[in-house]
Amino acid sequence: MILVTGGAGYIGSHTVKELLRAGYEVMVFDNLSTGHRELVLAREFVQGDLLNPQDLARVFSRYQIEAVLHFAAATSVPESVENPEKYYRTNVLGTLNLLSAMVKAGVKHLVFSSSAAVYGDPQKIPIPEDHPKNPKNPYGRTKWMMEQVISDYAQAYGLRFVCLRYFNAAGSDPEGEIGEWHEPETHLIPIVLEVALGKRPYLEIFGTDYETPDGAPVRDYIHVCDLARAHVLALERLLSGEELASAYNLGIGRGYSVREVLEVCRRVTGREIPAREAPRRPGDPAILVADPTRAQKDLGWRPKYTALEPIVETAWSWMLKMSQKS
Ligand code: UFG
Repeated sequence: MILVTGGAGYIGSHTVKELLRAGYEVMVFDNLSTGHRELVLAREFVQGDLLNPQDLARVFSRYQIEAVLHFAAATSVPESVENPEKYYRTNVLGTLNLLSAMVKAGVKHLVFSSSAAVYGDPQKIPIPEDHPKNPKNPYGRTKWMMEQVISDYAQAYGLRFVCLRYFNAAGSDPEGEIGEWHEPETHLIPIVLEVALGKRPYLEIFGTDYETPDGAPVRDYIHVCDLARAHVLALERLLSGEELASAYNLGIGRGYSVREVLEVCRRVTGREIPAREAPRRPGDPAILVADPTRAQKDLGWRPKYTALEPIVETAWSWMLKMSQKS
């Protein structure tokens, strides 16, 4: 049985779908604070909280867990700047509780959801995994702290692990079964698409004076199903005892500015999508673009979505479907 914490969330739910497709038995553990029961495709589901060690003890004593994929975390950069306590409690303490439960139960395999936010403002683009880590916000600091803690636990307790550093997850399941569903939404692509639907009056472009080609921040958008496949590949290799690096970047290796994202969304939706320039958002790096070579080489991972337009198409289909329901 594979335990997926945060399996009712955006990236977790897509990974559960991929795990089930690959034939794994999956148990989802989620407190449903931001996740949705409707996104849980696994038959086994426990509503529990990482901050409540008894919830974890219950799962590890009842089920034979082979490996843990740990997605459950608070994930908003701006919120982490305003409310760091929530981030240190949920992401640091929550992960420490999970690690204790794993050590106690003798569970030896872990895939950890890390982030491009560990790098901070990059000294070079694209960013390789050995780039200095200098996170710019509490969210990024929690992810970098936990990578180091996990590596210490691995040394001491014989844990085998891999940290996957996501760049900007985007898009939704092309079959429309699950998709990106945050309340409130803070991520760029769904926000732009909400403007296209008339749910918001306009897009605010946070910062137009960055040292980037058009002044707006640049990000590397990676389709959530490509992220999901990378998890399954990493898990297979961990379970088969293959040597892996401690961390892998997951991105397409190409950046798009906020203005370019807006243009692609206008093309895909055929709608006007009003936008206004706004001040920078605190904690935002100017550019994040991955060097994904290591994941390609070691995991045999090749993203299927290598351009933004088809990624936005899957996001738009999901959003249209959700808006017809509500
Ligand atoms: N942005 C806008 N207007 C909006 C929303 C976002 O201009 O209404 C801009 C942001 O300022 C940023 C870019 O769009 O420059 C992307 O913002 P997102 O909030 O979509 O994503 P982030 O890059 O801030 O964060 C994401 C994940 C984090 C992860 C980070 C690392 O949410 O979990 O990528 O790359 F850490």
